[in-house]
This record gives sequence, structure tokens and C-alpha cells, in this order.
Amino acid sequence: MSPTIEIQPSQVLERILTLEIVRVTERAAVSAARLRGRGNEKAADQAAVDAMRRELNKLPIHGTIVIGEGERDEAPMLFIGEEVGRRTGPRVDIAVDPLEGTTLCAKNMPGAIATMAMAEGGTLLNAPDVYMEKIAIGPGYPKGVVDLDAPPEENIRALAKAKGVKPENITALILDRPRHADLIAAVRRAGASVSLITDGDVAGVIHTADAATTGIDIYMGIGGAPEGVLAAAALRCIGGQMQCRLVLDTEEKRERAAKMGITDPSKKYSMEDMVQGDCLFAATGVTDGALLRGVRFGPDVITTETVVMRSVTGTVRWIRAEHRQFEKFHLD
Ligand code: FBP
Repeated sequence: MSPTIEIQPSQVLERILTLEIVRVTERAAVSAARLRGRGNEKAADQAAVDAMRRELNKLPIHGTIVIGEGERDEAPMLFIGEEVGRRTGPRVDIAVDPLEGTTLCAKNMPGAIATMAMAEGGTLLNAPDVYMEKIAIGPGYPKGVVDLDAPPEENIRALAKAKGVKPENITALILDRPRHADLIAAVRRAGASVSLITDGDVAGVIHTADAATTGIDIYMGIGGAPEGVLAAAALRCIGGQMQCRLVLDTEEKRERAAKMGITDPSKKYSMEDMVQGDCLFAATGVTDGALLRGVRFGPDVITTETVVMRSVTGTVRWIRAEHRQFEKFHLD
């Protein structure tokens, strides 16, 4: 007789929702992909937002957008605080980025994705749309081996030691921005290699979870706070460590954060602070990228590739879907 495996099921995020959220990111990705390479970031983003919102409203959930397209007064759809779903089923927090890498999509460059996370109600960090300092590594390291407040050189040396390699064998992924000039110089001074990306730091953080395949050991630098929360949800599912701090460098930003309940503007958030409970994460490729293949439009079939993860079990599924009911997608 085979032994019974006891898995503690989530009380809130039913297993079925794992597949339901795949549909949401698939539809958003297909809608954005129709506008790949057209040079129109806004149109591609709007198409993804419309499709994602439509699909979210079909789900059997009481959902609240906590990471969305912007704050209530500036985003007409999927704004922070918007209620989505059929208002039946569990109360959940939702983080969305219907098109992560709008420029990548508009220029048909690698790495644009449609992504979302779902977590038990009240467990996702309500972050305003500001910048966020981030540091992330994959699983298998002692807790606290790197620290957001340590100098970059120290983090590289500590990570190399924990991995059992020389700093020369460590690769850091960083967004290619002028604000990162000092960080890049410090990482190189420590002997490590720097891999630069033009956009897309949700996928950037996820790369650290499988260093053996991606060659990326650590993600460092400043990117969007919404993307930080989404990346934390993914890492919470696959394992790893992440620390972040909101960049609240003006009174106006501090006030916006305070309205969302952030009382300590300089708080250092761990991954567990940003995603406090069970969560699901999904991303579908819009353009081809190192993480996911982009949408393919054939004469009879649309093909999508999605990764979906569940923190309660740590299951990661790669779903290559062939869609034949074109009329559904033509609603977009
Ligand atoms: P968008 O899809 O909103 O354009 O975000 C792309 C992105 O590269 C994110 O991945 C990243 O967190 C952020 O922009 C960085 O912001 P900025 O381009 O202002 O440096």
C-alpha cells in the first residue's frame, strides 16, 4: 500500500483556481500579442487590460485588486481597490500586470509577459505605483545571506561563498538604467558579471530561482513596486529570498503610501511581508523570452505558453495551450 501524503490544503485558494488564472493571463497575452511590434505601447497595454478584466470577472471569487494599473483616480480599469470576480467564492487579493514590458511588446523585443497573482484576502502588500529597491536570490541559501542594506560588493562575496564559487562565477541581473551606474560598477568591482535587461524585472527576479538553467544568481536594483509584489508572489511559490523597500522620496509619495496603510515609509519588506499567505502566480509569454515563448498565431490555432505556480504545494506547471475557438479571442 502506498503511503498517504498529507498536504495541508489551502482554506481559501481552491486548487481549481490555479487553472482558472491561466485563462486570465492567456487571454491578456493573446490580446497584447496582436499588437506586438506596432510601436503603440498604450494600445497594447489597453488590449491586455480589457481582456484580463473581462476574464477576471468570470472567476468564482470575491476579488480585490491590490496591485493594478494605478490608483483609483488615474486608472479607469483594474485600479487599486476595484472589486473583480463573480462575487461568489473566496475573498482574495489580486495583483495584476496585464502587460509587463509594454515597450518590449511595442517593439516586439524578447520578454513581454501577461502576469497576475492571487492570494488570500488581506495578505498582499498594498503598494502604491512607485519605485522599489529590490534584491532577490533563488532557493537553497541560508536565510539572510544577502541583505538589501549591505553594500553590493559584500552581497556578491557572501553569495559566492554560500554557493561555493568565486565571485567571478556569480552573475547579477540588473535593469539597464542610469540610476544603476554605481550599483553596476560595485558588482563588477566585486568580480561578478552583470547581465543587463532593458525591461521586465518580474521575469528578472524569477530567473534567480533556477540559476543552473538561467545563469542568473541574483537580481539587484530599483524597479516598479507593483512588479516587486508580483515577483515576490512567484518566488514565494518556487522558493528563494527577496527583500524590498519602497522609494518614497517625496511627501506626495509618502502620503499616497500612508493612504494605503503604509505607516513606516522606510520599512524593509521580506518576501513573506509582501505576500503573507498562500498564493498563486501565473505568467503567459507575449513575445518570446528566456522564460516563456510568445503567442503564436497560426491559421487555425493560437498557441500560448504559461507558467503557473501554487505556493501551498510549490507546484510549478508549464502549460502550452492550443486555442481553437478563435471567436472567443476575437472578442478582444
Ligand atoms: P512597464 O511594462 O510598465 O513598462 O514596466 C516595465 C519595467 O521594466 C518593469 O519590469 C520595471 O519594474 C519597471 O519598468 C522599471 O521602471 P523604469 O522603466 O521607469 O525604470
